[in-house]
Amino acid sequence: MDKHSTNKTLDECLSLRDGHLWIEEQDTTALMSEFGSPLFVVSEDQLRRNIRSFQEAFSQGWTDGPVKVMPAAKASWSKAIQRIIADEGCGADIYSPGELDVCLNAGIDPQFISVNGVPKTEAHIRRTIEVGARLTIDSLEDVEMLERVTQELGKTAYVRIRLRPVLTDFNEPSDFVAEGLIPTDIAALGYKGGLSFDEVMSYAPKLMDMEHVEVVGFHEHHGRHSRTVNYWREQMRAYAQEMGKVCEALGAFQPKEIDIGGGFAIPRDPFNAATDYNAPRDLRWLNSISKFMKSVAPSKRYPTLQKIIDSVVGKPNEIMAPTIMEYADVITSTLKQELPAAGIDPTGITLQLEPGRSMHGNTGIHLATIQALKSAQAPIAWSHAISDTTEFWFTGGRYEHHLHDYIVANKADHTYTEKFDICGRSCYGDRLMPAIMVPKLEVGDIFAFLDTGAYQEVSCSNFNAMPRPATILVKGDQAHVIRRAETLEEVFHRDIVPEHLNA
Ligand SMILES: Cc1ncc(COP(=O)(O)O)c(C=O)c1O
Repeated sequence: MDKHSTNKTLDECLSLRDGHLWIEEQDTTALMSEFGSPLFVVSEDQLRRNIRSFQEAFSQGWTDGPVKVMPAAKASWSKAIQRIIADEGCGADIYSPGELDVCLNAGIDPQFISVNGVPKTEAHIRRTIEVGARLTIDSLEDVEMLERVTQELGKTAYVRIRLRPVLTDFNEPSDFVAEGLIPTDIAALGYKGGLSFDEVMSYAPKLMDMEHVEVVGFHEHHGRHSRTVNYWREQMRAYAQEMGKVCEALGAFQPKEIDIGGGFAIPRDPFNAATDYNAPRDLRWLNSISKFMKSVAPSKRYPTLQKIIDSVVGKPNEIMAPTIMEYADVITSTLKQELPAAGIDPTGITLQLEPGRSMHGNTGIHLATIQALKSAQAPIAWSHAISDTTEFWFTGGRYEHHLHDYIVANKADHTYTEKFDICGRSCYGDRLMPAIMVPKLEVGDIFAFLDTGAYQEVSCSNFNAMPRPATILVKGDQAHVIRRAETLEEVFHRDIVPEHLNA
């Protein structure tokens, strides 16, 4: 594999030097020696580069008004990461009271915090209004609570209406549905976020008339149904038309803010790669042959099935996603064309975007140590390398069928000749990387999962009472712990044994 040749740059923050994987100016094997295994590692400079790329690309295209990058806090909400985001002058997309708190404490300007999500509590809505953040209306219940809270506080609430434009012209299969059988326009209707035109019109006139409410614009987020720019072109066309319809129905309303949500793919795009490699086709074949050969003696049957199993190789996606510039170009040019056609003057409108996976994904890697090797020879040859991490620390990615690109960090220049399942340490099968090619492995080797910066660390759980690993922030040749490893004591911290069980 070309990517494993000695001394080369893999991307803006990862490189191979003398057979080791480096992140910025840090040898990952040295990080493991210093901080222990396993580890989440994040590059501060890559995060800053990503923020600036989004800001520059969208500002080049959106010349009618300001552009505000508001990264999705849910993708990576630690205090240090949010400090970097504040320092770069970004806003934030937040979902929960906890995310609102961490963003405010980090110093993010509340007027650029988009409080999204459904359902919301009255307390959350109250705090949103008190601090002057933007409230995204995503249900009738939001409106009822908003009315009560604004009357009580007597303070202006700045709200945006979340739409769910119908993607009538994009019926390519949605990647969100792993099997890929559902057209995107239909799959998007099944997503709970957003409101249909009729739902919006059932409350929007009342919203416009509320004493302490200022409707400042619109919001939409469809997510990563497809990595293509065509998907974005259709989203923006449909969004502009839907906004136009609502504006007209509300009597020539003009938005000041248009938020397009997130859903841009990570450059190496691990999304759904686990369902996309050649396994499903070959494994269906395996199933049929196995049934057909049921009465054949195992000594003949298994060598035949072995040939099919040997042909299955787990390969991370090799098609790079469009660049941020390509996304920005399509999005801004479509909006500039479609908004006036829909009766909305773009002049002065702030364009807001909420990238999550694409902002954080390639800022992070996860490092784990191989702790046991098993190689069965019969009746089918099958090799397992068992690491000290687990799929329970990859929950966000498992949910989205990620197959991460990877490197054996201490053998980056070796030839990848052996096929192994890289497994985790939980009592489940924990088949993190099925049937991938690796160099000859030894206990102690360091396995690096790439692009783990979004949704992974924040969705770690304590299955098998496992304490969660630490996160290290790398800046140049400096490394800092930004979330220390959990202790076993902390795992049981919330447990209470009732008196009668203590007897
Ligand atoms: C409202 C909103 N904005 C932005 C995002 C970020 O999406 P992504 O990580 O796909 O960019 C999400 C993710 O669920 C979301 O719900």
